[in-house]
Amino acid sequence: PTALAGRHFLKELDFTEEEFLGLLELAAELKAAKRAGTETRYLRGRNIALIFEKPSTRTRCSFEVAAADQGASTTYIDPSGSHIGKKESARDTARVLGRMFDAIQFRGDAQATVETLAAHAGVPVYNGLTDDWHPTQMLADVLTMTEHSPKPVKEIAFAYLGDARFNMGNSYLVTAALLGMDVRIVAPKSYWPAQEVVDRARELAASSGARVTLTEEIAEGVAGADFVATDVWVSMGEPKEVWDERIAALAPYAVTMDVLRATGNPDVKFLHCLPAFHDLGTRVGREVYETHGLESLEVTDEVFESAHSVVFDEAENRLHTIKAVLVATLA
Ligand code: CP
Ligand code: NVA
Repeated sequence: PTALAGRHFLKELDFTEEEFLGLLELAAELKAAKRAGTETRYLRGRNIALIFEKPSTRTRCSFEVAAADQGASTTYIDPSGSHIGKKESARDTARVLGRMFDAIQFRGDAQATVETLAAHAGVPVYNGLTDDWHPTQMLADVLTMTEHSPKPVKEIAFAYLGDARFNMGNSYLVTAALLGMDVRIVAPKSYWPAQEVVDRARELAASSGARVTLTEEIAEGVAGADFVATDVWVSMGEPKEVWDERIAALAPYAVTMDVLRATGNPDVKFLHCLPAFHDLGTRVGREVYETHGLESLEVTDEVFESAHSVVFDEAENRLHTIKAVLVATLA
């Protein structure tokens, strides 16, 4: 068994800096082994439940393919396909699934739900995104940064632009603080992470050596950045009525070529967890663009399709990092 055997992954801070970096090493090994065709199946005979209260492309497929590669089975439970939270409490569902499965993934709104599952399942529980955190995404993003930067993690400067009060903004701030990075949250003040998240990040920074900056100024926030990231301005579960206020507040923080130039770094890379509103290719996007006379939202198509963009490496790394979590906690 590994040092993380039996552990939950409910938020980034469930792991120490060393444990987090250890998972990235394992992910890189598993990625190389898959590419070389030499992957060892550590999870033969294991069964993993995947509870989704919200849609997913990357997270669901990563868990399913990672499990299959490792010889484990998965059961996908779609947003309407079980009793959880409706006819049955999360606590009861946890006790049932814990008798059948070796691990449970949960994606939904409330962090409290994934914590309830973890408290009662008796098997490892993984957070596949809640309103508060997106921890498996952070493993993929940091792996991608290490692949695309010659610098050690602690020397990487990272700027996040956009709605920073939700899962991605919170997760980036604490992850970068945990790992000792130079992290900048660049957004209108009312879109900064909650004070308790900022306080926690500053505490972590005191021991990791991280630099934590929250600023409304784009030029200051992105200067010298190695990576610039953003996320959708309206997240899953939010009503479409909020688009107007989000666009009004966040349009100046869209990632454009001017923003990338303002880093002063010709090699700056662009990250986005996806899905992204960058072109006319989505139904929801087209409705919003028509109403507001726009052609993109949080990132321009020019940036998204440019050589700066590493978003598909980032998406692929969801698979390898989620596999590392499964192997580390279940093998
Ligand atoms: N980035 C991410 O979590 O994507 P999905 O919503 O497709 O899982
Ligand atoms: N903030 C986004 C992330 C999607 C992966 C959402 O919660 O919808």
